[in-house]
Amino acid sequence: MKVIIVKDAQEGGKKAFKVFQKALKNGTNVFGLATGSTPLTTYVQLAASDLDFSESISINLDEYIGLQAADPQSYHAYMQKNLFRFKKFKHSFLPNGAAKDVQAEIKRYDQLLVKYPVGLQLLGIGQNGHIGFNEPGSSFTEKTHKVALTESTIQANSRFFDNVVDVPRFAFSMGIGSILQAKQILLEAYGPKKAAAVVAMIQGPLSEACPASALQQHPNVIVIADVAAAAKLKY
Ligand code: PGA
Repeated sequence: MKVIIVKDAQEGGKKAFKVFQKALKNGTNVFGLATGSTPLTTYVQLAASDLDFSESISINLDEYIGLQAADPQSYHAYMQKNLFRFKKFKHSFLPNGAAKDVQAEIKRYDQLLVKYPVGLQLLGIGQNGHIGFNEPGSSFTEKTHKVALTESTIQANSRFFDNVVDVPRFAFSMGIGSILQAKQILLEAYGPKKAAAVVAMIQGPLSEACPASALQQHPNVIVIADVAAAAKLKY
């Protein structure tokens, strides 16, 4: 893994932007996208840029189950608000959190990932080392699936909701096996709460206890971390 340490999320977003710019220039046309606080500075850079994604495909990592796309808390709404209203992609895909048939939705998403293999996958990391909604204990070979969120993730995500009871308990997520198929992976981590997960991902054992440690198996991973998130790394 290539680790780039930056001062803060602002500087990290600028570095991440450069990775997108280079990928696009080199012909990457399928971008795996993420939500949460972490990619926001990257999306600000992308939104303000002259990069043209009109011939590109975007495929998001995950979506809450039980929320309509129009729900302001859905990841559909997040992507619209933070990126898609500024940058149009040729097609943008997210799991359909309102799908009636869970298995059919999982199949649809896996087929999309076969049709549009991801060239650059953007990731955040959870405090417990999760990537996408793949919580500790997830298999490293799993494809898209329905996940029960752990209590720590529900608590962490409750800051986006009025009340913790409003946080959905289930989500669709690409699996770690799906994520590892991407040609290149860019993971960003900011703030002291991510320090334990960052060191476990990079310098800990390859273990399902830290889902992000699966990235040690991938040949082309860039980690952008700020000083606080990188604080526990030992050199
Ligand atoms: P955050 O979440 O960017 O909101 O910290 C990251 C994640 O859970 O993957």
